[in-house]
Amino acid sequence: MNFHGERILVIGANGQLGTELVEALAGRYGEAAVLACDVSPSSKTDYQGPYKQLDVLDKDRLFEIMKQGQFTQVYHLAALLSARGEQQRDYAWKLNMEGLFHVLDGALQFSVGRVFWPSSIAAFGPTTPRHQTPQHTIMEPTTVYGISKQAGEQWCSYYCQKMGVDVRSLRYPGLIGYKSLPGGGTTDYAVDIYHKALTEGKYACFLKKDTYLPMMYMPDALKATLDLMHADGSRIKIRTSYNLGGMSFSPEEVAQSIRKEIPDFSISYEPDFRQSIADSWPASIDDSKAQQDWDWKAEFDLDAMTRDMLKQLGPRYKKQ
Ligand code: SER
Repeated sequence: MNFHGERILVIGANGQLGTELVEALAGRYGEAAVLACDVSPSSKTDYQGPYKQLDVLDKDRLFEIMKQGQFTQVYHLAALLSARGEQQRDYAWKLNMEGLFHVLDGALQFSVGRVFWPSSIAAFGPTTPRHQTPQHTIMEPTTVYGISKQAGEQWCSYYCQKMGVDVRSLRYPGLIGYKSLPGGGTTDYAVDIYHKALTEGKYACFLKKDTYLPMMYMPDALKATLDLMHADGSRIKIRTSYNLGGMSFSPEEVAQSIRKEIPDFSISYEPDFRQSIADSWPASIDDSKAQQDWDWKAEFDLDAMTRDMLKQLGPRYKKQ
């Protein structure tokens, strides 16, 4: 496939995923091809390429940017995550749903080639089979964020089937990376724990020790995203959102993995309201459809991720 002449818009570029995706896209297509947008006035990342302030709820400004840019690919990542969504219900629903409609309508109006929108394990709920959760199953989410992802998946499929917008989506597990911090999610403990291991040698976890959740190291998430977006459209059979596996672990297992590198590391458990969110989500994911349709395969396991996280973060804290 020829991806020469691509023009790419990333909305939510300062977020946990956006920060890394912008760099990956700029690495592949060149900085000039990628416009990073976020609600804050300036880029909060190391990215030096084109940047514009954009609140995705401001439809006029979004459309102006889309009209000017004539984008071939749009990645719409701006959202409130699960924990913060419970604290700001109205805003979470508005941002997550209206933002998506604005992007889908813009894609239709300005003939954007491909749109990426992330769904999540949060689209599942307590009545979903917890282990090796299948692609097609009961989905009764119990968080505002999860409801917005479930509804959003249906709207993506609708815009694709009825209006011909080539929108593609992944149900991400918890994402773990060293370049940026997540904000407002339930899986965030699995990022914080590495920072605290290096700075304090201990961590107080807001989930119970045996809470298993599906997780993924950022390089795998980036690869999945780019592989999905680059796959020929005929291979994308699922237009709601693809299950995406990776690994599954508990806080206790991350702590054990960290102790292989930092033997004195200690963990304590202080579960809070996020425990019930985690309990409503799958423990592991069956992503065989993604494997079949566009050859997906995760590379990192827990120990490989731990070694890399500590190696990458180590020098940052030694300098201080
Ligand atoms: N990582 C997200 C959260 O914890 C789930 O998609 O909210």
